Amino acid sequence: MTDTLTIRRPDDWHLHFRDGDIMRGVVPYTARQFGRAIVMPNLTPPVTTSALAAAYRERILAAVPEGVSFTPLMTCYLTDTTDADDLVRGAATGVFTAAKLYPANATTNSAAGVSDVERIYPVLARMEAEGIVLCVHGEVTDHDIDVFDREAEFIERHLRAIVNAFPALKVVFEHITTADAVAFVESASENVAATITPQHLHINRNAMLVGGIQPHNYCLPVAKRETHRLALRNAATSGSAKFFLGTDSAPHLRSAKENACGCAGIFNAPFALESYLTVFDQEEALDAFEGFASIHGPAFYGLPVNEDAITLERGSVIVPESLELVGEEIVPFHAGQTLGWRMAG
Ligand code: NCD
Ligand code: ZN
Repeated sequence: MTDTLTIRRPDDWHLHFRDGDIMRGVVPYTARQFGRAIVMPNLTPPVTTSALAAAYRERILAAVPEGVSFTPLMTCYLTDTTDADDLVRGAATGVFTAAKLYPANATTNSAAGVSDVERIYPVLARMEAEGIVLCVHGEVTDHDIDVFDREAEFIERHLRAIVNAFPALKVVFEHITTADAVAFVESASENVAATITPQHLHINRNAMLVGGIQPHNYCLPVAKRETHRLALRNAATSGSAKFFLGTDSAPHLRSAKENACGCAGIFNAPFALESYLTVFDQEEALDAFEGFASIHGPAFYGLPVNEDAITLERGSVIVPESLELVGEEIVPFHAGQTLGWRMAG
C-alpha cells in the first residue's frame, strides 16, 4: 500500500477569496497547499476591468503569509457591456489569465452577469483570436427549468453553440456536476476542459436534503443524484487531461449559511487536497492524482507546471466542526469528519 505521495505542487483552477478581512482570513488556507489559483471575480462590485483586477491582485498578495510562494491568477467578470479592448490589454500585460461567464442571476453575486450569451459573442471572438481562456458557470437561469436540470440544459442551449461558433476558443466548463457534462467535455475538442470540485466527488443530493436540510452541503450547481457523482469520480480519476482540480471553495459565514435564505457555496479550502486525495485513494487511482491536481490545468492554460513538490501522507486529519473567521464562525466542508490523508511537513 502506498503511504506517501510526492507530486508537483498543485494549483486550484477555480476559487473564491472574497475581499477585505474575509479574504485575509482565507488566503493562507489556499496558499498552504497550492502554487496558483484562478480567482473568481464575483465581488460586490464585480471585477470587470483590468484596473480593478490589478488592485485586487495586490490585496491578495499582501495577504499571503511571509515565506510562502503563491500566485493569484485573475479573471475578468464578463457583462453585457464588457470592454474587449481592456480585456485584451489586461491579458497582454499579465493581469488577466481568463474571463468568466456568469449567466445573470445564476449564482452568488452574478446579478451583473451576461443577460443573453449571444450578446457577448463579439467579446468571445476577440478572446478566441487572442487565446484568452473562457471560464463558464454552465447553468441556465430560466424559471421554468428545474434546478437539477440547469446544467444539462445549458449544454444544449448555449455551450454547444459557443463551442461550434468559436472552435479555437479555450473553454473551461467549471465545477461540473452531471454525467451529461462529462460526456459533453469528452466528446468536444481539445479546447474544451472541465474542473471538478471535491464536494461533487464526495456527496450527492441526499447529503443536502436527507435528515433535515443540510445547508453546509448546498452549493451551486447543486449536487445531483448518485449516478452523476459516480460519473464525476470516473472522469476525475481517468487520467484524461480534460479534467482538472478546481475547488470552488466559496466562504460564507455560518450565519449566512444557517439562514432562512442560506447562501450557496461550500468552504472547502482548509482541507482541499486531503479531500480530493481521499477520493483518489478510494478509487485506487493514486497514480492519476498528480495529473488531475498539478499537470492538466497548467497544460490547458499554457502555463508551466510548478517547480516545487509537496508530499502527502496517509494519516488521520480531523476536520474541525467550525473555524474562526473575522471573529465569527465558518463551517468547513467535512466538518467533524476524519480524512485519511494529510500534508506532510
Ligand atoms: C459561489 C459563491 O459563493 O461565490 N457559490 C457556489 O455555490 N459555488 C458562486 C459559484 O461559483 O457559483
Ligand atoms: Zn465558484
